[in-house]
Amino acid sequence: MPIHLPPLSRRQFISRTLATSAGLLLGSRLESATPAVDPHTWALLSDTHVHADRAKVARGINMAAQLSTVVDDVLRQARRPAGALVNGDLSFNTGETPDYATFTQLIEPLRTARIPLHLALGNHDHRERFWAALAGDAAAKRPVADRHAAIVRTPRANWFVLDSLDKTNSTPGLLGEAQLAWLAKALDAHADAPALVMIHHNPRSDPAKLTLIDEDALYALIRPRRQVKAYFFGHSHRWSVEKDRSGLHLINLPTTAYVFDPAQPIGWVLAQLEPQGLRLQLRCVDAARKDHGQTVELAYRS
Ligand SMILES: [Fe+2]
Repeated sequence: MPIHLPPLSRRQFISRTLATSAGLLLGSRLESATPAVDPHTWALLSDTHVHADRAKVARGINMAAQLSTVVDDVLRQARRPAGALVNGDLSFNTGETPDYATFTQLIEPLRTARIPLHLALGNHDHRERFWAALAGDAAAKRPVADRHAAIVRTPRANWFVLDSLDKTNSTPGLLGEAQLAWLAKALDAHADAPALVMIHHNPRSDPAKLTLIDEDALYALIRPRRQVKAYFFGHSHRWSVEKDRSGLHLINLPTTAYVFDPAQPIGWVLAQLEPQGLRLQLRCVDAARKDHGQTVELAYRS
């Protein structure tokens, strides 16, 4: 499964941050100021690339500061998301344990606001160190022994969060036969609701094999299962929304960290799950960008 970080209880929140009578008062004020949770709204983040050192700058970007900006923006939304999904490359480069410690601190305001997180892995993560770093918060049973793979159920659709980490700090991704077999079974068992597949690696094959190595096997599995409506990915640090020949939506989530193409946005996506489709809003760290707030409406294939 992806690591699930449940919301912090009021008691945990207070003991971690404000263990005083003034803290109790502030805690209750924060609770009363928090908007009601919307079960159909989700915060989608990807490629946070957090370094242990909060001051670390890469490609001119301070990743910790930007993730904090994104977290603040999630919390400012009129609708409180039912959850946040972080689609891999949580760590800066090689999945170091202190990276995960800093990441956990940076996303804590979401948990304090009662927003659970579901974390997936990318090629700049390290599975065992990730599990070890976060095991204190959650260690649920995994349907595929050596991978993160899980279903996150919502009233209008189910998220299928997969693990495409093959080798840490090696660019291509691999789902593997066991995980694909599990996905087929899980999709068949939940064929009555729209399925939204989330994988770190992008699907387009290229000669350099920089993407998902077993992309063909994945497509052979998800294209004919018409309940699969969208494939969300990150990895390329780009924002785009396309549709393949089968009507499957291909959604490239932007990074919260640095981009490789300066024209690309840095930010996150606010997803609203509708009965027959998705409404996605791009949220940019730079609110002055033209595409900040851009909204796309996607109808599900039948
Ligand atoms: Fe990345």
